[in-house]
Amino acid sequence: MLHIETIADLRSACDRARSDGRRVGLVPTMGFLHEGHRSLMRAARATCDFVVVTIFVNPLQFGAGEDLDRYPRDLTGDLAQCEQVGVAAVFAPSVAEMYPSGRPLTTVHVEGLTSDLCGAARPTHFDGVATVVTKLFAATGSCTAFFGRKDAQQLAVINRLVEDVNLPVQVVGCPIVREPDGLARSSRNAYLSLDQRRAALALSRALQAAASAAIAGERDPSALVDLVRGLVATEPTVALEYVEVRSAPELARVDVLDGEVLLAIAAKVGETRLIDNVTLTVRGAEVHADLGTTELRSEGVRQ
Ligand code: PAF
Repeated sequence: MLHIETIADLRSACDRARSDGRRVGLVPTMGFLHEGHRSLMRAARATCDFVVVTIFVNPLQFGAGEDLDRYPRDLTGDLAQCEQVGVAAVFAPSVAEMYPSGRPLTTVHVEGLTSDLCGAARPTHFDGVATVVTKLFAATGSCTAFFGRKDAQQLAVINRLVEDVNLPVQVVGCPIVREPDGLARSSRNAYLSLDQRRAALALSRALQAAASAAIAGERDPSALVDLVRGLVATEPTVALEYVEVRSAPELARVDVLDGEVLLAIAAKVGETRLIDNVTLTVRGAEVHADLGTTELRSEGVRQ
């Protein structure tokens, strides 16, 4: 496995792979890898012959007072996991390599999709994500890029970015991965105490209950929102930030459940901000609820 630290080396490795007829797969991450990331790597390995995992805690997507400094990092462990899954290369640049002039004067803003939901509490977050992802796409060149659906708004932003500026990238959204008790995998779960982790299960439980209500015939988005709010309120240490039903992938408000809709949630458990969602596909009386995949057993590696 190649361990690449410069943009020039990433570009030439990907160019070389393509000229050898290999399909390049890209898995952008901020490291502290867990089963959610490993599932993206495996999805990439299934369809691409040269898979690059990027590991970069991107300062541009953290707001003032957020967890940039304490964001969990473990490059040695991450490299071992990438090696084990069989990726071809890891790109782990320094901040100076990615932003040699400090804060870039050119940033990428995706209008409309970024100002509410998570963007309401994190107004600069998606510009930081769109900017770093554009830089990674530019350095990698033509590729298929794999992102998790837990970050549903991020996925919508990246899809729109690629479409709007015709980047030579095919974006693939992959299922949310849940721990055996339902908690969605996130590097930030590492911040949770045992009590907080138990309380955080209210999020997936509430989404599951809302999905069951939709399957039982509920079509009123505000009824689902009220149901989720009520269930989360039973855990006083969980502070709900938003519960929203939106169309997918446009993220527009909806009056009735129809077609593909996203029920998305964000909450703080102590200082830790968590997000989760379920995608509901509603066709008449038929409802398919996609909560992702649940691990059969905890691997006990990282929460
Ligand atoms: O989802 C993440 O881990 C990050 O937002 C991403 C896409 C790697 C950009 O830094």
